[in-house]
Amino acid sequence: MKVEVHGLTLTYGDAVAVSDLDLTVEEGESLVLLGQSGCGKTSTMRCIAGLETPAAGVISIGGRPVFDSGSGLNRAPNKRNIGMVFQSYAIWPHMTVFENVAFPLKMKGTKGAEMRTAVRETLELVGLDHLADRGASLLSGGQMQRVALARSLAMQPSVLLLDEPLSNLDARLRHRLRMELRELQLRLRVTSMYVTHDQDEALALADRIALMQSGRIVQIGTPPEIYAKPRSASIAEFLGVDNIIPVTREDASCVRLPSAGQKLQVEPYEATGDLRLCIRAEDVLLGPDGMKDTDLGPDGMTVTNALPGKVAGFVFQGSTVVYRIRVGTDLELDAVQLRSSGPLLGLDDAVTVALPPGAIRVLPAEVPVEEPAGVPA
Ligand SMILES: Nc1ncnc2c1ncn2[C@@H]1O[C@H](COP(=O)(O)OP(=O)(O)OP(=O)(O)O)[C@@H](O)[C@H]1O
Ligand SMILES: [Mg+2]
Repeated sequence: MKVEVHGLTLTYGDAVAVSDLDLTVEEGESLVLLGQSGCGKTSTMRCIAGLETPAAGVISIGGRPVFDSGSGLNRAPNKRNIGMVFQSYAIWPHMTVFENVAFPLKMKGTKGAEMRTAVRETLELVGLDHLADRGASLLSGGQMQRVALARSLAMQPSVLLLDEPLSNLDARLRHRLRMELRELQLRLRVTSMYVTHDQDEALALADRIALMQSGRIVQIGTPPEIYAKPRSASIAEFLGVDNIIPVTREDASCVRLPSAGQKLQVEPYEATGDLRLCIRAEDVLLGPDGMKDTDLGPDGMTVTNALPGKVAGFVFQGSTVVYRIRVGTDLELDAVQLRSSGPLLGLDDAVTVALPPGAIRVLPAEVPVEEPAGVPA
């Protein structure tokens, strides 16, 4: 069911954990709340689940308010029909797998054959039917998280809240369960909110990503939108954009590197104030020493924003090599090259880096506080 949050504020003493937050999760949608540690993700989830009492705001599930600071309405957690899966394996170790999953059904009054069928079906869904009678303490981490997931799904929740459910698992298992979770999500279309600070996980699991910083949502969009168009340099940095360089405005399609003073052509931008030039390492071109603007680059395209540089370091990554290029005295740029694209460069080799205007984004350092969180055109 659709979840709507308006003006949500949660404080712990003097500290504001969630600040005037607005958020809608559409029916059947998988929304991922992504942000750095301490930005307020868990706090937001706990408010929706009814485990914290917000200082202000309205929360509705399926169009019915479950919390309203104005009227004093505050439905108990067990009256909200919410399924939750946490980072720690919150399952009962003294029960079997079957009993764990049956527990919430019994609480709801489901009995007998109907209950047993529901448990069996849910265990099948998460691939644990063969372990139904095993004691829950005798499972691996990944299996325990599947039990926790099955237990939440068995009660057919209006909303499923998942708070970093995979972060205690090793990398391989995490990847596998991530794929399984996405499949399950697409098949069942249960409205879900998934919390993570891992951008790859967010990109993989989300219909939409809500990026959170300092208790508020600073950007919402589909994974491709967020990946291609972060709204601020600090969001870009969090999303792994490698090169973030302070620049000053020259005109609407040109910026200047403050230290070296070179002008760089960019696509028309609207950002004002404290500006950053952002470009991913995969988009930075590397060519032989001495290349100038309007020369033909290694990719056969006309070079723009050519800068002379020297190799200051490199990391071999198998199919690619990441080069760190020093330009002038105080600018360093990362550039990724396919290993197949030519001979490896060595330390101190002179090169030309070129920054294609279409790959550059000129962004404000931070998103201004008063702006809504949508994706800019
Ligand atoms: N019980 C509490 N008492 C006081 N402060 C708290 C409490 N729980 C959280 N906070 C603070 O509220 C802020 C938000 O915490 P929250 O747990 O929501 O962050 P998070 O985004 O889930 O972080 P993480 O990724 O580390 O889990 C943090 O500054 C945190 O220190
Ligand atoms: Mg948390």
